[in-house]
Amino acid sequence: MPEFAQTQLFGPILAKITGETCDRKFLARVCGLANVMRMLRLQIVGRWDRENEDMPMSSNAALQQEPQPIIACTVSRDVQVFDLLIEDMEAALGEQWGDLSFEDVLPFLAQPEAKSLRFLTIAMDSDDESRIPAITAIIGQAKAQGVKVILITEDVSPAILHNLLREGGDEFVPYPLPEGELERAIERVMTPTEAVTPVPDDGEPTRPKIKGGNRNGVIIPIHGMAGGIGATTMAVNLAWELATMEKDSDIKVCVLDFDLQFGTASTYLDLARRETVVELLTGTESMDSESFMQALSVYEDKLHVLTAPFDMIPLDLMSPDDITRIVNMAASHFDYVIIDMPSTMVEWSQTVLEAAHVYFAMIELDMRSAQNTLRLKRAMQAEDLPFEKIRFILNRAPGFTDLNGKSRVKRLADSLGISIEVLMPDGGKPVAQNADQGVPMGVGIAKNPLRKEIAKLAKSVHDVNVSDAVEA
Ligand SMILES: Nc1ncnc2c1ncn2[C@@H]1O[C@H](COP(=O)(O)OP(=O)(O)OP(=O)(O)O)[C@@H](O)[C@H]1O
Ligand SMILES: [Mg+2]
Repeated sequence: MPEFAQTQLFGPILAKITGETCDRKFLARVCGLANVMRMLRLQIVGRWDRENEDMPMSSNAALQQEPQPIIACTVSRDVQVFDLLIEDMEAALGEQWGDLSFEDVLPFLAQPEAKSLRFLTIAMDSDDESRIPAITAIIGQAKAQGVKVILITEDVSPAILHNLLREGGDEFVPYPLPEGELERAIERVMTPTEAVTPVPDDGEPTRPKIKGGNRNGVIIPIHGMAGGIGATTMAVNLAWELATMEKDSDIKVCVLDFDLQFGTASTYLDLARRETVVELLTGTESMDSESFMQALSVYEDKLHVLTAPFDMIPLDLMSPDDITRIVNMAASHFDYVIIDMPSTMVEWSQTVLEAAHVYFAMIELDMRSAQNTLRLKRAMQAEDLPFEKIRFILNRAPGFTDLNGKSRVKRLADSLGISIEVLMPDGGKPVAQNADQGVPMGVGIAKNPLRKEIAKLAKSVHDVNVSDAVEA
C-alpha cells in the first residue's frame, strides 16, 4: 500500500487527535511524515500499545486506547471539497473511518486491513466525470469483497449516477448532504439483510422479508394521446374506485406515476413527493419488497402511490429493465397496478405495453388526438407491436343527446380504424376544482357524471378480472 494512502486513510483520525482539520501538509509539518506513517501502521496492525513509548506523539490519549477497526472509508479526489461529509462521517462513525483518494482504493482493498471495511462512501462532483471508469472499477472490487458503496454526488448527470448505481452502488445521497440522510444511508448499509424488519402490510400480519409479494396484479397503463387530456384524472380515480369498490374487501391498488417529469398523481391526491423515489428508480437491481413499499406514499390507507420524483429527471434515466422490475414488483404486491404514462413515447413504452393486461389510451374529439393516434398506430405497426391491446377512452365525450357529436365520434373511429369503447363525459369545472383539493372524485364530488362513469369502468374491469380468475 502506498505510504501516501495511509496518511490519507487516517486523516480524519489524526484530525481528531490534533484538533485540526485533516490537512496532510499540516500533519507532515508537525509530526514529520515518517512518524505519522509509522504511528498509523502500528495502529492498523494493533501494535501501537506495545510500541508507542518511543513515538513522538505518545502524549496523545486517543491513540493509547485499543484501536478500533476501520469500518468505512470516504473516497474522493479531495475530501476537503466535501467538508460536510467529514462532519457527518465523524458524527456517525467516530474515528472508525478513513479517507482515500481514487488512486489508493484498489491497493488498499487488497490489504488485510481492508477486511474490517463495511462500506465506502464515494464522493464525486462534475469534475470527476472523467474518472467514471476508475470509480466503476472501485465499485466492482468493493462489491466483490462484500463492501457496500454509498455514492455522494454533486452536479453529476442522472445518466452517470444511474450507471454507477447499476454497477453496484447501494445507496445514493446528494451533496450538499440533506440533514440526516448520510446517517440513514449508513444505517441501511450496516443493517445485515436478514435482520431487516418485515414491512407491516396494511393490517395483515407482518410477513418475513421476501423478494416480492404473492399477488398477481392486473396491469393497466393509462396513456394520454396529448397533453392535458385527462390521463392522470383517469388513473387516480380509476385506482380509487377499484380500491373502494367492495366494502371491507382486500383489493389492493397502486398507482405508478411514470410521468416522471410532469406527473401530477401526487398533486391530485395531495401526497408529498418522496425523496426516496429517485433512489428506487435508479437502483432497481437492489430493490426489494421493503424498499419498494417504503418508496410508496399512501392515500387514506387505501391507495399506494409511487409518485413522480421531486426533481425532474430524464425519462430515459429508466431502462426497460428498470421498468420491468418495478412493474413486476408492484404486481406482486397489488391486485391492480394503474400506471400513469407520459404522453411521449420512450424507450420503455413498449415494455409497459407488453406487461399490460389492458392499455388505455385517452383521446378527445379533436385533431391533435386524431393525428397523434394515427402516428402511434403507424409506429406500432411498423414495429410489430400489439396495437390491439389498446383500448381507447374518449374523454369529454359528447352527451347522449348530442346527435351531431355522436356522428363525429363515429367518423373519428372510422377514419382512424379504431373502436372507441369507453366514453367519459365532461364533468365540468368541479373536476379540476376537486383535483385541486387533492381528493379523489369519489370523495369530493361523488355525484359528478365523470365520477359515475369511472366507477362503472372500474366495476367492469373488476368483473372481467374476477371472471377470468374463475375461468382459470
Ligand atoms: N372529463 C373531464 N371533465 C372535466 N374536467 C376534466 C375531465 N378530464 C380531465 N379534466 C381536467 O382537465 C385537466 C387535465 O387533466 P389531467 O391532468 O388528468 O390530464 P393529463 O392527460 O394527465 O395531463 P398531463 O399531460 O399534464 O399529464 C385537469 O384540470 C382535470 O381536472
Ligand atoms: Mg398527467
